[in-house]
Amino acid sequence: LENGLLRTPPMGWLAWERFRCNIDCDEDPKNCISEQLFMEMADLMAQDGWRDLGYVYLNIDDCWIGERDDRGRLVPDSKRFPHGITFLADYAHSLGLKLGIYADMGNLTCMGFPGTTLDKVELDAQTFAEWKVDMLKLDGCFSTREERAEGYPKMSAALNATGRSIAFSCSWPAYEGGLPPEVNYTLLANICNLWRNYDDIQDSWRSVLFILDWFVKHQDILQPVAGPGHWNDPDMLLIGNFGLSYEQARAQMALWTVLAAPLFMSTDLRTISPQNVNILQNPLMIKINQDPLGIQGRMILKEKSLIQVFKRPLSGDTNVVVFFSRRTDMPFRYHSSLAKLNFSSSRIYEAQDVFSGEIISGLRDDTSFTVVINPSGVVMWYLYPIQKMQKTVQKSH
Ligand code: GLA
Repeated sequence: LENGLLRTPPMGWLAWERFRCNIDCDEDPKNCISEQLFMEMADLMAQDGWRDLGYVYLNIDDCWIGERDDRGRLVPDSKRFPHGITFLADYAHSLGLKLGIYADMGNLTCMGFPGTTLDKVELDAQTFAEWKVDMLKLDGCFSTREERAEGYPKMSAALNATGRSIAFSCSWPAYEGGLPPEVNYTLLANICNLWRNYDDIQDSWRSVLFILDWFVKHQDILQPVAGPGHWNDPDMLLIGNFGLSYEQARAQMALWTVLAAPLFMSTDLRTISPQNVNILQNPLMIKINQDPLGIQGRMILKEKSLIQVFKRPLSGDTNVVVFFSRRTDMPFRYHSSLAKLNFSSSRIYEAQDVFSGEIISGLRDDTSFTVVINPSGVVMWYLYPIQKMQKTVQKSH
């Protein structure tokens, strides 16, 4: 969507995967979906370096709505959001953050709160703009195919008509199976800034692989449709939660980065471990994810279904390569060369290991090297040419 927003994939925090629809603030006041939770996360995003690294979106998901008032306008749950959404938006803005909100193109949200039926699209867009919201995730539960086909473009136009810059995240393709001909990615790129292609992520490695394998299987369709202002969204990062090992957490971060995916954390920033903070706050990782060319990477090699190699071209003739091991037993010693990874033969490259910082220099296309990849882990190399090789031109007389 050419609204000037999200020229690089969005980064931020989204409540859903970690905090779900916990609305029992009597039982669990620190973790229920309430303004208190969002304010605490906002404070930490500003204090603990998140915002300064680019994690600026603070996004509310389902279960914030109380009801529609007698004019039909959405109102937040008065007990859990006593000061209203404008108050939260002002709070986020005062800390240099942006506020995202959630609605559902249908009769009810997925958790059964009032939805945005076709007759309410314009009213809700205006309400969100008045509240100074900066992003809308529009879900698709409890709707028909026809309602979604009318509703998503209608909401895009309605948001534009408010005059406020509001990034638009569409769950539409996930409700149509994610593939053409049911999904028209050309249309989506015109009306949405990002879209959920496929299933919800759950807090498990199995779920990460399920989503990743689907993205890889359909990369010929998905890879070309991503770019500045319009992104595929494989769903939230699980890092900091309960389901991933250390290697798996690093792998999700590296793979989402090579896929030019939105980086939405969904974790408790009050209790996240330093190790997980380091994964999410790796400056070179973020620079790569946020590369201005915005080209989504692809899987370029697969060997014996034990190793997959991903490559993403970046600006300034640089590239990132992720070596991903699907072994679960022991470290994989993978032998390769830049020629095997389709690098230009006329240049000498240097690689920086994105996690360790180690520099591997003097890589010619035929230099063989070995990377050691831990089980369900990754090695990630940022590669840049250091010089052109002198070509000896043989003249024949
Ligand atoms: C759907 C979405 C999730 C989340 C829930 C909320 O399942 O795909 O990301 O928003 O609804 O109910």
